Amino acid sequence: MKFKSPLCGRLLSIIKLVRGKSDEDTLAKMNAFEKANESLQAEINKLRQTEIALRRSEAYLAEAQRLSHTGSWAYDVASGVPVYWSLERCRISNFNPAGGHPTLEQYRQLHAPEDWQRLIEAFQRAIREKADFETDSREILADGTVKYLHIVGHPVLNAAGDVVELVGSTMDMTERKKTEEILQKAQAHITHITHMTMMGELAASIAHEVNQPLAAVITNAEACLRWLDQESPNLHEAHEAVGRIIRDGRRGGDVITRIRALLKKEPPVNISLNVNELIRETIALAQARLQGITLRIELAECLPLVSADRVQLQQVLLNLMANAVDAMKSTALRQRILHIQTLSQTAGMILVRIRDSGRGLDPHNIGQLFEPFYTTKAQGLGMGLSISRSIIETHGGRLWAEAGDKNGAIFQFTLPVEHQS
Ligand SMILES: Nc1ncnc2c1ncn2[C@@H]1O[C@H](COP(=O)(O)OP(=O)(O)OP(=O)(O)O)[C@@H](O)[C@H]1O
Ligand SMILES: [Mg+2]
Repeated sequence: MKFKSPLCGRLLSIIKLVRGKSDEDTLAKMNAFEKANESLQAEINKLRQTEIALRRSEAYLAEAQRLSHTGSWAYDVASGVPVYWSLERCRISNFNPAGGHPTLEQYRQLHAPEDWQRLIEAFQRAIREKADFETDSREILADGTVKYLHIVGHPVLNAAGDVVELVGSTMDMTERKKTEEILQKAQAHITHITHMTMMGELAASIAHEVNQPLAAVITNAEACLRWLDQESPNLHEAHEAVGRIIRDGRRGGDVITRIRALLKKEPPVNISLNVNELIRETIALAQARLQGITLRIELAECLPLVSADRVQLQQVLLNLMANAVDAMKSTALRQRILHIQTLSQTAGMILVRIRDSGRGLDPHNIGQLFEPFYTTKAQGLGMGLSISRSIIETHGGRLWAEAGDKNGAIFQFTLPVEHQS
């Protein structure tokens, strides 16, 4: 007879040696022994497999805790002491796990009195109300490091329904908190920079837009002096010039108010406006600048009214005309043509088109023209188009540029027709 187990094989050889033979009864007993031994071995193997699986799962859990900076713990209600702290829970509080979990006193020492009080109250409430709980806490480690923690836990009840344990997890929020603080500081910094940029833009916009009325004031003041300095002063003309000075001075004040409103994103002061009339008035205002330029005015008949801020819209027209005049400075005198056109469009919009015969636009940087401070002029601020676009968009319209067919540039804007109620 042959046994699978080496142990049984050896036993049989010893029996044969002692007795000189092996009887039936011994063989049967040894057979039974071998079967029992086999099932014991199978059991041991199973346990070994389970243990390996358990260790692996524990390792995964520990890794997950380490990665998420979250430790787990258990607290015994009857004795009022911690009974379990995972490795990660120990690491969070810089506690050496070799000596087991901390005592209640060691745990208390990690807290400022008011933080400890809050934590104990959260524990006690969870026990009293038999409910899950969540709280933030703060620990001060031996080296002075402050840890910001988020704790969640829930009560474990026995068969009688009494709370026997609190189990839960503690997440280390210190890094996240630091990042949040850095982010908050960065945001405050950005807000400050945005504010400063806005102030810069405001100053530049005011400087830009006030230039025109200021220049008009000086022209009229000089005219006034000329009328007064004549041998027989022309008081009527001088009076007229002073009237214009007052008008331009007021316009300067209005412009400042509107620019501030525009940058503060306040709604425009809208009235019913006939854009054709506004164009005629603006040309009169810009008369001095338009010297030596052929004007072609083509205004649509029965142009619908728009609801707009008169001062702001006039600024747009003045800016576009000023740019057209600047662009035509190098054009031969008789070919300096400024073409202003209005059109009534379907879709409830009107269109204003200002075309010049100047040096034209580079199709590659048309988008850039509207950016604040973009200028190709030695004396330019680069604010005219950016202000004008803001104004038109605040009015619900669109302002854009195109290269002219043969030469020059075309700037045009749309405005919604006034709503008829
Ligand atoms: N009609 C035009 N023809 C050719 N280039 C133009 C025309 N209008 C504007 N540009 C270009 O767009 C740029 C920006 O115009 P914008 O009115 O914003 O500023 P600016 O005229 O340079 O300076 P300012 O702030 O004094 O108006 C100009 O410098 C110019 O290069
Ligand atoms: Mg300009």
